[in-house]
Amino acid sequence: MTQTYRITLLPGDGIGPEIMSVTVDVLKELGRQENLSFEFQEALIGGAAIDATGSPLPEETLQTCRGSDSVLLAAIGGYKWDTLPRSQRPETGLLGLRAGLGLFANLRPAKVLPQLVDASSLKREVVEGVDIMVVRELTGGIYFGQPRGIFETEAGEQRGVNTMVYTPAEIDRIGKIAFETAQKRRGQLCSVDKSNVLEVSQLWRDRITALSADYPNIELSHMYVDNAAMQLVRWPKQFDTIVTGNLFGDILSDEAAMLTGSIGMLPSASLGADGPGVYEPVHGSAPDIAGQDKANPLAQVLSAAMMLRYDLDQPAAADRLEQAVLTVLDQGYRTGDIMAEGMTAVGCKGMGEVLLKALS
Ligand code: IPM
Ligand code: MG
Repeated sequence: MTQTYRITLLPGDGIGPEIMSVTVDVLKELGRQENLSFEFQEALIGGAAIDATGSPLPEETLQTCRGSDSVLLAAIGGYKWDTLPRSQRPETGLLGLRAGLGLFANLRPAKVLPQLVDASSLKREVVEGVDIMVVRELTGGIYFGQPRGIFETEAGEQRGVNTMVYTPAEIDRIGKIAFETAQKRRGQLCSVDKSNVLEVSQLWRDRITALSADYPNIELSHMYVDNAAMQLVRWPKQFDTIVTGNLFGDILSDEAAMLTGSIGMLPSASLGADGPGVYEPVHGSAPDIAGQDKANPLAQVLSAAMMLRYDLDQPAAADRLEQAVLTVLDQGYRTGDIMAEGMTAVGCKGMGEVLLKALS
């Protein structure tokens, strides 16, 4: 029997619609081969939603997402909306989606593919074989803590305030995901914090340490975030799984991504306790190349593979899709961001076409 899945598509802004369109074609072809059928529903988010409705996350979008098996998101944002007040900015739509769906765990793999070792700005011997998973807490910390705002003191002076706060329950639930993730990988977990300065980090470290008693087979280490930022470029192969809070994870996951040569290759999964997850590339909307058929769709395609693996429980289809990506890279097809001498340059659509061939 054919299994049918309801997938919400959030193409968003910039290069979003182009990379989403390639991914949908690829999923349809994959579905034919694996006997899966997808019912796609498109919804608005980010700048596209602001233009159409005035809100970066219309209630209808949240409802559509909640009613689906999984959500594929491309990218949000662009120059056009950068000067709007915070409540109306595209980023607020993305944060609202994460909060609205309770997506507290963000999994960002950074794996250096042998085909792309030379695309990295670091030396071959430093990056070859790197395979890191960053587990970032996504609905807490300084991104959501109260109080926040720009306030005025009695003396009439302005104060910008944000609050970094974590409760034990928030730390424990992301900690569990991280330990379980490490269990499926090489069994090493590095928790990153700033407990030499911040109380919130001290609580983080205490809870993660306490949790480790339940995972005797995992080798737990702790690192301050400044050191972690340095170690990631000094000797990244020391890391297997990293767990950290929202802000540190935002920064370190971009840094880890760049080890692989191009942020244009990296997928991510955002998961909650139940309900649909959101699968999106780590890169942004790249407004400078939008609509020019230059974007690399592979991070979006690999995000669909993560969706198949985590939300839809279709590991064989996920494997096949990831294999198709490796095949087109082996065949020498490259978009501009990963182009190298002797390779065949393709655009976004061209990459989609060779992927379809590799699948069939
Ligand atoms: C990310 C992005 C977002 C974040 C922005 C767009 C709000 O940088 O997903 O890493 O800071 O979380
Ligand atoms: Mg970021």
